[in-house]
Amino acid sequence: MELTLSVIKADVGGYVGHSSMHPDLLQKAEELMSSAKGQGLLIDYCVTRCGDDLQLIMTHQQGEDNEQIHKLAWDTFIECTNVAKSLKLHGAGQDLLSDSFSGNVKGMGPGVAEMQFTERQAETIIIFMADKTASGAWNLPLYKIFADPFNTIGLVIASNMHSGFVFEVHDVKEHKKINFSCPEDIYDMLVFIGAPGRYVIKSVSHKDTGEIASSSSTQKLSFTAGRYIGKDDPVCIVRSQGLFPAVGEILEPFASPHIVEGWMRGSHNGPLMPVAIPQSNPCRFDGPPRVVAAGFQLANGKLVGPRDLFDDPAFDDARQQVNIMANFMRRMGPFEPHRLPLDEMEYTTMPEVMNKLASRFQDI
Ligand code: F6R
Ligand code: MG
Ligand code: MG
Repeated sequence: MELTLSVIKADVGGYVGHSSMHPDLLQKAEELMSSAKGQGLLIDYCVTRCGDDLQLIMTHQQGEDNEQIHKLAWDTFIECTNVAKSLKLHGAGQDLLSDSFSGNVKGMGPGVAEMQFTERQAETIIIFMADKTASGAWNLPLYKIFADPFNTIGLVIASNMHSGFVFEVHDVKEHKKINFSCPEDIYDMLVFIGAPGRYVIKSVSHKDTGEIASSSSTQKLSFTAGRYIGKDDPVCIVRSQGLFPAVGEILEPFASPHIVEGWMRGSHNGPLMPVAIPQSNPCRFDGPPRVVAAGFQLANGKLVGPRDLFDDPAFDDARQQVNIMANFMRRMGPFEPHRLPLDEMEYTTMPEVMNKLASRFQDI
């Protein structure tokens, strides 16, 4: 069965501050998704959240970039914004950059990850969702999942994965893309994806069959809006088992937390903490950044799940490591590399301070 899986997300209002989501927003989204399912537009859906981001997970047969599906998501965000406004939640409608829908939510603020594929006999899917970080946060884990034999033993000992995977990398500044065939292109690819603020892994496919393996949101709100008005809080869909890495190989990179951008005021680096969905309420220094993983089996497009995959004591040590890393970084206060470089901060007073002090600068 040919299916499209669409994950479309937006921050349409935080509760409290930017830390979490009010249940009334989830309920409103649930109503609208349920009615779209009733009308036959969706096969199935799951409404969930990561921190203050509303996540619409939808299966359908309309293909990627479909106007009706994107409009459904947009209308849902608008309705949820109205609920957020009535509760005077913080930043109601903050990710909706336009007043009216024009065919596709891309470039309008929401994040989108979609993939179209033929459902296998058993189709295992993991959807990663992160809060307080940017799309490039997936670069390191995707590299480990699909190219690092120290993480994914299947690359070495499973003959259906031994040829490797092809990575599509986007230059989000210049709007260009390039494919890297791994393992042979690993060294070249790392030159780029090690700079995740600019080069972002958009998708990964299985080299032998061309089957799609992973798809990420790469919208950079900063560039979309022409100025930095929020973080991307990205999502990433990964197919698992059989031709693809096992669930445990896909989750394993998050057992060794890495540093990502996007903490407090979108202007700090900090460690990414893997948590259960109810624990995705970043409020220590508005963080640290969080990642959740929702696992599903698909049954003719029906989303059987979610299983909250980081709700597992095996990730307790990662969470503890994140707290230690967070304390270490916080000690640096307003200094880099805790604070982001000047031109990457979401908030800055530099122009006004520079202007005020202009006459006090002297040649040296
Ligand atoms: C939002 C975020 C927060 C805010 C901070 C200030 O995702 O990361 O750290 O940037 O709470 O928010 P405002 O400017 O909305 O008061
Ligand atoms: Mg917010
Ligand atoms: Mg958010």
